[in-house]
Amino acid sequence: MFKLNDRVAIVTGSGSPKGIGRTIALTLAKQGAAVVIADINKEGIADTVKAVEEIGGKALGVELNVTSKESCDAMVDKVLSEFGRIDILVNNAGISQKVTVQEMTLEDITRVFSVNMFGLFLCTQSVLETMKKQKYGRIISLSSVSAKRGGGVFGGPHYSASKAAVLGFSKNLAREVAQDGITVNCVAPGLINTEIWKSLPEADAKAVIDGIPVGRPGETQEVASTIAFLASEEASYITGEDIDINGGSHMD
Ligand SMILES: NC(=O)c1ccc[n+]([C@@H]2O[C@H](COP(=O)([O-])OP(=O)(O)OC[C@H]3O[C@@H](n4cnc5c(N)ncnc54)[C@H](O)[C@@H]3O)[C@@H](O)[C@H]2O)c1
Repeated sequence: MFKLNDRVAIVTGSGSPKGIGRTIALTLAKQGAAVVIADINKEGIADTVKAVEEIGGKALGVELNVTSKESCDAMVDKVLSEFGRIDILVNNAGISQKVTVQEMTLEDITRVFSVNMFGLFLCTQSVLETMKKQKYGRIISLSSVSAKRGGGVFGGPHYSASKAAVLGFSKNLAREVAQDGITVNCVAPGLINTEIWKSLPEADAKAVIDGIPVGRPGETQEVASTIAFLASEEASYITGEDIDINGGSHMD
C-alpha cells in the first residue's frame, strides 16, 4: 500500500471501539503516519491509542468536540506542539438518528448538522492555515450513500441532508485550496459492518443485503484502505472527488 512515512494524520471520531475511525487510524499508522486519535469519548481515545501502539505505531490522543471551535483550535495547537505539522485530516466523527420528516424536530436536525456538517467545517477550518503554510494537505471526509439516494437503514432525512452537505462543501473547498497543494475528497460508504449493523434483526439484515449486488455489508478496512490511498502523495491529482464504497448498492 501507499507509504505515509513522516506524515501526521488527525482522525476525528476514531475512539469508537468497532467504528470506521479506529480502522482508519490503524491503517494510516500501519502506513507510517503518526495518528491523532480525536474523539469526544475519552475511554475510546485511550483504547485506540493503545491499539495503535500495539502495532508499533505512533499515536496522540486528544479529547475533541467537533462542534466547538475552541476545541478544534486547541486540538490543532496540541498536534503542532507534539508533531510540528498536520498533513492529513480525516473528518470521520458523525452521528445519526432514525426518524421521519414528520416526526423530526428542529432540535433533531440541528444536532445532526452540528456534528456532521458544522463540526466538519470547524475542524477543517482549524487545520487550513497549517496545511497552506506547508503547501501540502489531504482532507478526506465521510459522506454516505444516503446523501445520494436518500433512505438508509439507520439514518433519517437530516442525516442524508448533512452527508449531502459534506459533498458540496468539500467540492467548494477543493477549488478554494487547489493551488495550495491541498486536496479535498470524500468517501461515501454504503452499509458497513459495524456494531450498528450487527444490531439489525435478521429479517431486516436480509432485506438490506438483497439490495447490495456484492451480497454483504462492507468492512471498515475497505473504507480505511480507500482513505489511505486518498491520503497518500500518489493521489495528488484527485480533488473534489467522492468515491462510493457500497458494494454496488448505488452507482453514480
Ligand atoms: N457505519 C456505516 O455503515 C456508515 C455508512 C456510511 C457513512 N458512515 C459514516 O462514517 C463515520 C463513522 O461511522 P461509524 O459507524 O464508525 O460511527 P461510530 O458511531 O462508531 O463512530 C463515530 C465516532 O464519532 C464520535 N463523535 C460523535 N460526536 C462527536 C463530537 N461532537 N466530537 C468528536 N467526536 C464525536 C463518537 O464518539 C464516535 O467515536 C460517520 O461519519 C458515519 O456517518 C458510516
